[in-house]
Amino acid sequence: MRIVTDPAKLQQVVSQVPRPLILVPTMGALHEGHLALVRRARRLARGTGTTAASIFVNPIQFGPSEDFGRYPRSFEQDSALLKQNGCDLVFAPGAPDMYYPDRSIEIVENSLSRVMCGASRPGHFSGVCTVVAKLFNLFRPDIAIFGAKDFQQFAIIKRMVRDLNFPIRLEAHPTVREPDGLAMSSRNIYLSAEEREQAPVIQQVLQRAEKKVREGRGSVAGVVDWMRTQIQLTPLAKVDYVVAVDPVNLQTASELRPPVLLAAAVLFGKTRLIDNRLVE
Ligand code: PAJ
Repeated sequence: MRIVTDPAKLQQVVSQVPRPLILVPTMGALHEGHLALVRRARRLARGTGTTAASIFVNPIQFGPSEDFGRYPRSFEQDSALLKQNGCDLVFAPGAPDMYYPDRSIEIVENSLSRVMCGASRPGHFSGVCTVVAKLFNLFRPDIAIFGAKDFQQFAIIKRMVRDLNFPIRLEAHPTVREPDGLAMSSRNIYLSAEEREQAPVIQQVLQRAEKKVREGRGSVAGVVDWMRTQIQLTPLAKVDYVVAVDPVNLQTASELRPPVLLAAAVLFGKTRLIDNRLVE
């Protein structure tokens, strides 16, 4: 497995590696969710292509009061895990390698990023789009894989690829969960024992709401209120948002029937967790 930190070097390396090149962008602190994406990349490379990952805690996608400084960093362990899971090429730049001090171009998505996490985290998705566009230009991947846990992120990247004509196929990988249903996340390690115990409530409530959607019981607003109330009943949970939206445009669903995306962001102390269920 080759590790590259310099962007110019990466461009030189990827011009010579066997194709197809499959890319899994990450911020490191890798868990089984990330590794499932890498194994999927490995299968898509069909033995002859190149499985690639990036590890970069992207400063410009964190708000001023967010956890950039304390975001978990575990490069040694991450690179061992990537190697074990069949990764061929890792790009792990530092922030100065990626951003010039006088950088002045950024990619702004103006519709899908106005709601949900975009409403709670202003500027977040511009940071994501900008770094992902850079990673796409650096790697020139044939396929890039993202997780369905970050449904809105995937929708926005798909829109960027369409609107800006990136010649890249995108794939969403299903959310990988802990045995009790909690979506795996690099941020789960912030949770206290008590918070960790209560965190699966998010998925449990989304699951029960899915049932309501399938049974066509009640209204969109009714189900959203119900989900909010159920989550708030959990002592340590504080709802950031709960929505039932059209999975294509992320606007509030017009009626309570599939397809609908049920999604929530919930704070446990300072830790903000997200999850969703796509009801098809
Ligand atoms: P990060 O949070 O490290 O996630 C990297 C990729 O792993 C994302 O596509 C995310 O959706 C996926 N992922 C995370 N947890 C998952 C889980 N439990 N199951 C399946 N997939 C999961 O998302 C980012 O980094 C960044 O925003 C990035 C796209 C790298 C841009 O900086």
